Order: sequence, then C-alpha cells, then structure tokens
Amino acid sequence: MKRIEDYVISIPDFPEPGIIFRDITGILRDADGLKLSIDKIQEMLEGVEFDAVLGLESRGFIFGMPIAYNLHKAFIPVRKKGKLPRETVSAKYDLEYGTAEIEIHKEDLRPGMKVVIIDDLIATGGTVEAAVKLAESLGAEVVKIAFVMELAGLKGRERLAGYDVESVITYE
Ligand code: PRP
Ligand code: ADE
Repeated sequence: MKRIEDYVISIPDFPEPGIIFRDITGILRDADGLKLSIDKIQEMLEGVEFDAVLGLESRGFIFGMPIAYNLHKAFIPVRKKGKLPRETVSAKYDLEYGTAEIEIHKEDLRPGMKVVIIDDLIATGGTVEAAVKLAESLGAEVVKIAFVMELAGLKGRERLAGYDVESVITYE
C-alpha cells in the first residue's frame, strides 16, 4: 500500500532557484492516491462538528470540495482578489516576495458558523492566516485547519497557535 508521500512529486528549483516544489498532481493522477488523500483528510475531521468547508483557491478547492460533499456540508470558496461577484471582505498577506489578497463573499458566513479550512499545503502560513482572519471578521469560528502537506521548516504553524491544525504529511 503506497503512502501519500509516495505520490507527491518533488521538483527542485521550481518556480525559482532554491524552492522544492511539492507537486500534488502526482497524487491526483492516480485513483488510489486521490482516494487516499481525501480519506486521510476526512479521518482528521472525525468527531469535528462544523457547518462549512472553506477551500483556499485553487488547490484547496480540489481537496476541500470532496470532503464537503462526502460529509454533506457547505463549501465556501476563498478566492484571489477580483473573482467573486458579490460583496466581499478581503485580507492582504505576505508571500515570500510581495503581497497577495484573498476574499470571501460577505453574506456566505454568519456569526456562530463553525468552519473547517482546507488547503493542499502550508508553507509560510500567510495564506491560511489571512483566511482565518476573514472567517473570524465575519463572526465564524475556525474549528479545524487541515492540509495535505506541511513544510515545517517555514514555520507556518507558528502563525496558527491556538488552532487545531493537522497535516497528512510533513516535510522538514
Ligand atoms: C499555494 C498553496 C497554498 C499557499 C501556501 O497556493 O496552495 O494555498 O501557496 O503558501 P503560504 O503558506 O506561504 O501562504 P498559491 O498561492 O500558489 O495558489 P494556487 O493554489 O492557485 O497554486
Ligand atoms: N506553495 C508554496 N510553497 C510551495 C511549495 N514548496 N510547493 C508547492 N506549493 C507551494
């Protein structure tokens, strides 16, 4: 039986020198890998009560949607700026170089809603930290944050102190 790490393809120096890109398409192109990745995230959510999955564009959509569907929960996309047509709230965050901005439809979250955030990977943690801020600014409670992969050396988890954070696999 293969493990998730057996499916991930690691590409040195992409998109720039010094970065090892952890390519999830190696998981997705194999039916067993795809099933295993979704099953593993779903196991993390056993016993967690929540209303909606927040999926982070774009790779977080791939893993978040099947979980929402399987567990009969709502799916709410957190998108890069300028894509959502209704009124949004937005948050800026730092990348390794420069800044980016994500947004969520304002009326899609209500105070008291419990949400789970799902993404493929945590690197610096800037993206997920911004998503947490957005959800909380609308009164939602983030009850779990789940990743397929964690790049522990970048210490993104330190930005999520106090939250229930889990990753299927960790790279040092
Ligand atoms: C990647 C990845 C995470 C984020 C992690 O997304 O899917 O969302 O970077 O990096 P961080 O922890 O340093 O914030 P990206 O912005 O490349 O978008 P994509 O999913 O559309 O490729
Ligand atoms: N997003 C940010 N860092 C990444 C990495 N090393 N591999 C894949 N996606 C990433």
